[in-house]
Amino acid sequence: MGTQETIRLLAANAFAERVGDTGLRTAQIDALGAEGARVHADLTARRGAGGLPFYDLPFDRGGLAASLAAAHRARETGDTLLVLGIGGSALGTTAVQRALNPGTHNLLAAPLRAGMRLFVCDNVDPEGFGEVLDLLEPGRTVVNVISKSGGTAETLAQFLAVRRWLVDALGPAGARRRIVVTTDPTRGYLRRVAQAEGLAALDVPPGVGGRFSVFTPVGLFPLAAVGVDVEALLDGACSLDAVSSLPGLWDNPAYLFAAIHVAFLRQGRNVHVLMPYSDGLRDVADWFRQLWAESLGKRRALDGTEVCVGPTPVKALGTTDQHSQVQLYVEGPQDKVITFVEVENLRRDIDLRADVPGGAEVEYLEGKTLGALLRAEKRATEAALTRAGRPNLTIRLPRISAHAVGQLLHLLQIATVFAGGLLGIDPLDQPGVELGKELTFGLLGRPGYEARAREVELLSTPDPRLTVPHL
Ligand code: PA5
Repeated sequence: MGTQETIRLLAANAFAERVGDTGLRTAQIDALGAEGARVHADLTARRGAGGLPFYDLPFDRGGLAASLAAAHRARETGDTLLVLGIGGSALGTTAVQRALNPGTHNLLAAPLRAGMRLFVCDNVDPEGFGEVLDLLEPGRTVVNVISKSGGTAETLAQFLAVRRWLVDALGPAGARRRIVVTTDPTRGYLRRVAQAEGLAALDVPPGVGGRFSVFTPVGLFPLAAVGVDVEALLDGACSLDAVSSLPGLWDNPAYLFAAIHVAFLRQGRNVHVLMPYSDGLRDVADWFRQLWAESLGKRRALDGTEVCVGPTPVKALGTTDQHSQVQLYVEGPQDKVITFVEVENLRRDIDLRADVPGGAEVEYLEGKTLGALLRAEKRATEAALTRAGRPNLTIRLPRISAHAVGQLLHLLQIATVFAGGLLGIDPLDQPGVELGKELTFGLLGRPGYEARAREVELLSTPDPRLTVPHL
């Protein structure tokens, strides 16, 4: 694998030499060295003891084999895969499928379409969910219900609705044949149902949280079913291991990405934008938004002190959001770090001929391509930000391939746990999300959560003084 096949982190525009006083000094990264070494030692020890399984998922081909076999069966059963899941159970699949299949995947006819059509339902709005069910045919559909805990209200509700939809059309046995459950290997409601009903089931390895699970059957099964080369995806992640295991902040791109963001966060620069210049990578920004927010947004440090720390990740898309967000990024509050994701070699390009009545407005486009314009727009935005003293970085992919996407996701996962270590918080838990889940259980009358229901009722009693009357 030559260097041109490796993603690169270009960090110069985060530093004072390029952006002036608003940038970091290289000495600030050096000063994080001792803290970084401690975090590295801790992560390495925990990884060695099996306490951070996400690190080694790309090497674990057991999940891959099970996913490939299940994908093969699914493709024999139907031509459409409906994924039910939320948060980390959905975002990785959406991101990778969008990156590696054409945006028109679902519209293509079978020989042109690499695998099954894919619908990922990650919300319980009955309007949106109902629209998808209206579109699909039970007899052509395989349903993958994904929940690590096996108890998330949204996913279980979707499961109930879709199970009924399948049973009504195909009967109980037909429905059972079309459901694949992905959940904890031994615990939780979904595992029990899978066992009781004889449903096909895949394992989320213990100790792997939703947002770190894209390289488990959570991502691998649906991605294999829709024609993604999941082996190459894992190979890409594996190929990052050597460099992302290096201890030095300047040597390890994942650590450097984390260290730069944490250094800025400590200066109050707490809005972290990920802005791919690529339609295919737009949902990677969505995946990263969850990873960065849910992992690093924490009330308490590991020692229990209240810190209420965390960046606010923002997703943007180049060039589209140049006409939406970039004005704010160039001139608004100095509270942002922008990371561009750019692709060196596009999978296709479109030539431009300015063979229309003359005019300086279009003549400069003669002989250029859309890809050249996309690249120029990125460079120009980067330059505008840099000139305006706005720190920015670039992650450069040689091309969008399963290999490069595997590297990119793994880099960002490792950066996230390293940033968590520097911030002194646990990046793997999500107590704030759990609270919301419990309050929902209470409101819907789940036994054992009555006190939670009372909490919500107390907080939602209307206050007439603060209620705006209808006009
Ligand atoms: O990253 C996480 O842990 C969460 O976003 C979960 O993926 C999400 O809450 C869904 O949980 P579960 O997979 O248990 O249904």
